Amino acid sequence: MKIAVLPGDGIGTEIVAEAVRVLNVLDLPFEMEEAKVGGAAYEAHGHPLPDSTLNLAKASDAILFGAVGDWKYDTLDRPLRPEQAILGLRKHLGLFANFRPAICYEELVGASSLKPELIAGLDILIIRELTGDIYFGQPRGRRIATDGHFPGAEEAFDTMRYSRPEIERIAHVAFQAARKRSKKVTSVDKANVLETFQFWKDVVTEVHKAYPDVELEHMYVDNAAMQLVKAPKKFDVLFTGNMFGDILSDEASMLTGSIGMLPSASLNAKGQGLYEPSHGSAPDIAGKGVANPLATILSAAMMLRFSLQQPEAADRIESAVKSVLAAGYRTPDIWSEGTQKVGTREMGDAVVAAITGKTITK
Ligand code: IPM
Ligand code: MN
Repeated sequence: MKIAVLPGDGIGTEIVAEAVRVLNVLDLPFEMEEAKVGGAAYEAHGHPLPDSTLNLAKASDAILFGAVGDWKYDTLDRPLRPEQAILGLRKHLGLFANFRPAICYEELVGASSLKPELIAGLDILIIRELTGDIYFGQPRGRRIATDGHFPGAEEAFDTMRYSRPEIERIAHVAFQAARKRSKKVTSVDKANVLETFQFWKDVVTEVHKAYPDVELEHMYVDNAAMQLVKAPKKFDVLFTGNMFGDILSDEASMLTGSIGMLPSASLNAKGQGLYEPSHGSAPDIAGKGVANPLATILSAAMMLRFSLQQPEAADRIESAVKSVLAAGYRTPDIWSEGTQKVGTREMGDAVVAAITGKTITK
């Protein structure tokens, strides 16, 4: 088994280092190989996703990814920007199925900006389609308008599109995931306005016929954004397209206390997966040793479960995370009165200690 380790930019290097230490103490038979990606790869090789990095990713069973991006690259041509690395990996490896679980750990109920009773016990699985929609639709570009409100003016355009097979395969993923949970899928669309999402709704309804044991509900995205903060526990599997999933998963992360807690898995049809925290590279806190490594450590657990067939090891990591939270360890993003503020490295130390069975003291 081979893991490609791609730390990337900003806090990516710090948080991935902790996840790698956690993986190492598990003493499992896999090999890890590191490569540059994003802005770091642009600096070293002139491209955010060099062939060497892409080929390593393709040849691996799983990819552990940190984060990419920094404001200093905002003026580069789009194909050279760090974000193109993660979009390129998703596209070239066909990682169409994105899983973003939003779980509110008991100990972090007070760290959320929402009332405790709204989020205590929260356990939502967001399933986001990841290789289609307006993110990848062609054509896109800039031109001089020949029609619209201002003919002759400069304009920019992107294309929202989904094909039937793209919707069908992700709908199967959502219904099958729901079968392992509370058998309820909320498909989020904007069918009242967009043809792409009327089609989404129609195809999802057809695929649902093969899953009579699963309850399917359709919800408009604006309403879903509201329901997520009004009554989030009504959701179980929240299933949607690429752009709505991007937005709603950031919103859902705040229900768990911090975006620093949200792991993710992106899978292709072969079972290969890319595992990354749902948060970004946070250049404002990079290099300070204060970033929360738990989303990345939990992503490593998802990797062990989904791509490396090591469910017991995944359980060990997840229980270790729960025990360090119970012991009161908190990075600044989840800190509250009465708990112990620690940095990235100390949080990693605490998880390692919990796995190796050493006692943790507050
Ligand atoms: C995410 C990120 C990415 C996205 C960016 C970095 C391209 O926000 O994984 O949610 O928009 O998908
Ligand atoms: Mn996002």
